[in-house]
Amino acid sequence: MHLFLDTGNIDEIREITGWGVVDGVTTNPTLLAREADRGDYRALLKEICDVVKGPVSAEVTADDAEGMLRQAKSLVKISEHIIIKVPCTAEGLAATSAMFEEGIRVNMTLVFSPLQAVLAANAGASYVSPFVGRLDDIGHEGVDEVEKIRVIFDNYDIDTQIIFASTRHPEHVLQAALIGADICTMPAKVFRQMVKHPLTDKGIERFLSDWKKTGFSID
Ligand code: G3P
Repeated sequence: MHLFLDTGNIDEIREITGWGVVDGVTTNPTLLAREADRGDYRALLKEICDVVKGPVSAEVTADDAEGMLRQAKSLVKISEHIIIKVPCTAEGLAATSAMFEEGIRVNMTLVFSPLQAVLAANAGASYVSPFVGRLDDIGHEGVDEVEKIRVIFDNYDIDTQIIFASTRHPEHVLQAALIGADICTMPAKVFRQMVKHPLTDKGIERFLSDWKKTGFSID
């Protein structure tokens, strides 16, 4: 499973990409707005692309297909790595099919049902992002919807990639992997939680104290 970092924060991106485990980044207008005091969003997106050297999602803010296409054409000029995030609306679908014709890759976002995912794939989206955490928030089992999308896409050999999104904790990442999501995008906090295990810390402590007793050093 590919792992994406869901943030617009360049420090977090530098930190976690340094582990060699990040395949791409997803942003959205809220995440980029949090970084607004660092300067222009285009410069930030360029910097993110240069660090990640993989797919970086940037979202349009227009609500009509024509405006979305115009914004997409502007955003893809930032870097070859930019993927256009488009919300799953009727206008968003029309924009996605126009972008597909132009060779612009789309990540259809704010997807909450398998049928929205089918529409996204049919419109030509390269990625579809079901928001699991936000479904959980309203009392649904978000993961079940992703599982259904996996079944449907497999039934028809649909190659649109499923991005398990709105990931809130490591258990979500495990569920994403078990049901066969292509990608899981998550905040830096979840990456940090994933790496930690009390037995790893305890093991290191024990190894080091035993080694210290020998007086040897590895040079
Ligand atoms: O990639 C989706 C993400 O940005 C939304 O996550 O936690 O705001 O629901 P969240």
